[in-house]
Amino acid sequence: MKHQLTVVVLVVACVYAFLLSAGAQTSANTVDAEGHQWWQHAVFYEIYPRSFADSNNDGVGDLKGITSKLDYLKDLGVDAIWISPCFPSPQVDFGYDVSDYENINPMYGTLADFDTLASEAKKHGIRIILDFVVNHSSDQHPWFVDSKSSRTSKHRNWYIWRDGKGPRQPPNNWTSTFGGSAWKFDPATNQFYYHYFYAEQPDLNWRNPAVKNAMFDVTRWWYHRGVSGFRLDAVDTLFEDPNLHDNPIAHPGKNAFGDPFEKNEYNTKLPEVHDVLRGLRKVADENNAVLVGETWTADIAELNKYYGQGNNELELPMDFLFTTVNKLSPADFRKQIAAVDSASGWPTFVISNHDIVRSYDRYGDGQHNDQIAKLMAALYLTLRGTPIMYYGEEIGMKTTPPARKEDVKDPIGKTGWPKEKGRDGERTPMQWDGSENVGFSTATPWLPVPATYKTHNVADELKDKNSVLEFYKQVLSLRHTNRALLDGSYTALNENDPNVLSYLRIYKDQAVLVALNMSGETQKVNFELSHNGFSSSKALVSTPKSSATGDVVVLEPYGVFVGQLSKK
Ligand code: NOJ
Repeated sequence: MKHQLTVVVLVVACVYAFLLSAGAQTSANTVDAEGHQWWQHAVFYEIYPRSFADSNNDGVGDLKGITSKLDYLKDLGVDAIWISPCFPSPQVDFGYDVSDYENINPMYGTLADFDTLASEAKKHGIRIILDFVVNHSSDQHPWFVDSKSSRTSKHRNWYIWRDGKGPRQPPNNWTSTFGGSAWKFDPATNQFYYHYFYAEQPDLNWRNPAVKNAMFDVTRWWYHRGVSGFRLDAVDTLFEDPNLHDNPIAHPGKNAFGDPFEKNEYNTKLPEVHDVLRGLRKVADENNAVLVGETWTADIAELNKYYGQGNNELELPMDFLFTTVNKLSPADFRKQIAAVDSASGWPTFVISNHDIVRSYDRYGDGQHNDQIAKLMAALYLTLRGTPIMYYGEEIGMKTTPPARKEDVKDPIGKTGWPKEKGRDGERTPMQWDGSENVGFSTATPWLPVPATYKTHNVADELKDKNSVLEFYKQVLSLRHTNRALLDGSYTALNENDPNVLSYLRIYKDQAVLVALNMSGETQKVNFELSHNGFSSSKALVSTPKSSATGDVVVLEPYGVFVGQLSKK
């Protein structure tokens, strides 16, 4: 009896100690009275390492190049950099085909260079987020090389191998999102392997616990090296139906690759994904790290699934729904902001990345592009949520797709030409100055520099008070210091206005008004702020000809007004 009592006391003491330490961990990780974590206040910035800064002048960017630009990033207002894959890779998909998850590609430097980057970044108060390519490895990864070597190899079951339906007939109708069948025949072992992306990117078999353990260990390995989180690549595609049902055809016709339009019912978004995400999150939590997700969701209900029950999956599933608003439509943005604001987790805003046409071109009208770039900055940097910038957005970089098929570097641009020109256009070198190779390299860059480099580059824009870059800096500085922008709620204003998108960010007795003119005409708007208990606004950031008098804001074409309100 006495023995049993001792056990009970010990168990209770342990549970109490655990709860205390969990509580301590939570409060140690929060940064404000609202219980927010660092990543809720941080501005993330995606770096495509091939294209950012080339320290050894071979035409391709590298880690030392990134280190040399930390002052710039700090000064801009960046708190975390997400580096697209910089691991050893044959570069078929420019790094998204990883042949060693625990090393650095020599073209980008060494592990020592990574360590220097990590420690220098820390001194600058900038965290590092790496890109974790979870769905597939390279076909050159030793796991796959062994897997392919025989049907009985140790790693055979680390990938998805199946018999064909008949001689040389793939197991089912699934097509690769990069064109052609998603199955590649291996004559040596007389089976097909599955690849959602290129054939050089075989899908890992996440139903195999050995794969899961190995991949979880990869994250631990990088956390111990100072990484603050991961952006998880292509999470929708981790699992496939083990019975390999054919996918239904969505609608008649053929896509850019000549394949039928398939509904990916049996090879994307399977519920098992969430077990993996919960597991990865557990490891991340043990390391005070954050998980960002490449999550292509159809609606907020799907987005909510990625936050998980009680937020136990991804902290920052990217809201790509925002990138599907492809015109300056206040009504469309309002709808999308309201939707994501009602999501079960913290919103994440993305307007550009290395896979999609830059925001400068998606929203620009060809005449007021700089003005519109500022307007978009004022939008996604003042909303409630974490913004993920894409390099070059802050200087108004333009998408420049190749003009000729023979110039295309991205393989999908070759197979899909001319309908699909690939993603080279949004991956061109960062424009640091107005010299021939834009200060990116002394060698010819791996992709050509857009013609606009003479007017849109860091050096010149830093000297121009009216540049896109200076505007970004002002808004970023404001969002780091203004309590309402950091922690305030979102309230839409004038919801029927077809031209001006406006909202309040309210925190206790403080509020900020954001008014964005999405039209090419001057707009005069009465906000009747007293209805919300506020009066007159004092400009915090605005474009030159936009101002407020009392409740009335006048906005020049594509003008921006962000003002502090006072309590009535
Ligand atoms: C998504 C990445 O963003 C894209 O660039 C890549 O091609 C695919 N995943 C495959 O890894």
